[in-house]
Amino acid sequence: MNTATSTAYDYKVVRQFAIMTVVWGIVGMGLGVFIAAQLAWPFLNFDLPWTSFGRLRPLHTNAVIFAFGGCALFATSYYSVQRTCQTTLFAPKLAAFTFWGWQLVILLAAISLPLGFTSSKEYAELEWPIDILITIVWVSYAVVFFGTLATRKVKHIYVGNWFFGAFILTVAILHLVNNLEVPVTAMKSYSVYAGATDAMVQWWYGHNAVGFFLTAGFLGIMYYFVPKQAERPVYSYRLSIVHFWALITVYIWAGPHHLHYTALPDWAQSLGMVMSLILLAPSWGGMINGMMTLSGAWHKLRSDPILRFLVVSLAFYGMSTFEGPMMAIKTVNALSHYTDWTIGHVHAGALGWVAMVSIGALYHLIPKVFGRVQMHSIGLINAHFWLATIGTVLYIASMWVNGIAQGLMWRAINEDGTLTYSFVEALEASHPGFVVRMIGGAIFFTGMLLMAYNTWRTVQAAKPAEYEAAAQIA
Ligand code: HEM
Ligand code: HEM
Repeated sequence: MNTATSTAYDYKVVRQFAIMTVVWGIVGMGLGVFIAAQLAWPFLNFDLPWTSFGRLRPLHTNAVIFAFGGCALFATSYYSVQRTCQTTLFAPKLAAFTFWGWQLVILLAAISLPLGFTSSKEYAELEWPIDILITIVWVSYAVVFFGTLATRKVKHIYVGNWFFGAFILTVAILHLVNNLEVPVTAMKSYSVYAGATDAMVQWWYGHNAVGFFLTAGFLGIMYYFVPKQAERPVYSYRLSIVHFWALITVYIWAGPHHLHYTALPDWAQSLGMVMSLILLAPSWGGMINGMMTLSGAWHKLRSDPILRFLVVSLAFYGMSTFEGPMMAIKTVNALSHYTDWTIGHVHAGALGWVAMVSIGALYHLIPKVFGRVQMHSIGLINAHFWLATIGTVLYIASMWVNGIAQGLMWRAINEDGTLTYSFVEALEASHPGFVVRMIGGAIFFTGMLLMAYNTWRTVQAAKPAEYEAAAQIA
């Protein structure tokens, strides 16, 4: 038996995914800034199909969710599952395959989406051959992750792994069910579902993609990296177990809140609304558990910008999971739906929670897997923290103002029952908000550039012998 593999963590795949998280973060957010500029100045569509907003928008969402978010989840789950199980990755060759396979999926998305190939299901736009590749990579991921859990050297399964495990299993089921389709050509397929059923399956998928890809997986990150960075045990282990079971039980029912006032049966809409309101409790339970982990360590926030990233991400998580249930109330949704309010809510979660918790975790993890004590520059992490926070606040504040203005202007009627404002008037009123959102996005993006430079300098200073030593299992 090769003792080197049994006494050392497999950090190579973690290093690869960590670096690609930064790269895809820059690409995906750069695209976000570009499409934000297109909404403010439409000439930037250049009258070409490949550069039109309609094609670049799904490229942005796929790049930030599956490329940036996905690589962050692979990197952090592979890192923390090994450390909490005190063992090396199960099937390291398969783990290497998940890296290259996932990068191929991303590359194929980057080619096929601008060319106009799409299944037209939001967050599941990729066509059937790519869907099959995703399935193969995902099953391999499950084998590596659960195999590592099964071969653990400690009795206990740490709660972070419960969240990662639920994320991996649920995303597999969501992907398979929502992408059942009949191929008609090499790059075109039709969904097996029709009408209202198709819509319900799509938003069962869409909402649970939020719940399990953008939430459960990142809660796995929170449960490992917040206690590590704060050097404190998690506030309440009992609460974390209640949090886990309550969250996964309730999330799965809330999808219909995306289909209020549609052809979906009324009872299903009301069920979705009620379940969304109940969802506030487990969401806040988790946020409180993360925040309170800092009890007795609050002073560390003054000097540790990594901890600040993690704690502020939890604050945004709390905010977006308060806002979401409010927007799920049918009468509130009557105002917010189709407006920029939804976009603001999305990015409170996406930038404030998903991106910030990932960035914090990466700043903790990158020096460790490259055998360094800390990142090249703590000052740059601090600057990044402020750019990310200011960028997020500008983004979501401008979208709230726009969203509420749009909702009110669209529904305003004169005494004789005619509309007070034309659609174009509401659009004109939105222009300043579009510009502010673009500026907020550009500020957030600048922070990512600082991160890339800081990572580059950290990696450059590292020597292979050092990172091999750092991978030894104590
Ligand atoms: C620099 C940062 C970013 C900028 C400037 C940006 C900009 C945009 C813009 C302009 C849209 C289209 C809005 C519309 O159609 O009216 C959009 C949509 C979207 N973005 Fe971003 N984005 C950024 C980061 C992110 C990140 C990090 C994520 C996820 C982790 C994300 C997830 C999404 C999603 C899910 C949508 C679709 C929302 C919906 O359909 O309701 N974005 N983004
Ligand atoms: C308790 C938790 C949450 C609830 C109940 C909730 C509820 C909602 C509601 C009601 C909408 C608007 C649907 C519409 O009018 O079309 C929405 C949209 C959305 N939310 Fe949330 N939300 C929650 C948390 C989050 C978090 C944490 C994130 C991101 C990390 C997120 C991402 C999204 C996305 C991407 C959409 C846009 C979907 C689309 O139309 O493309 N949500 N959410």
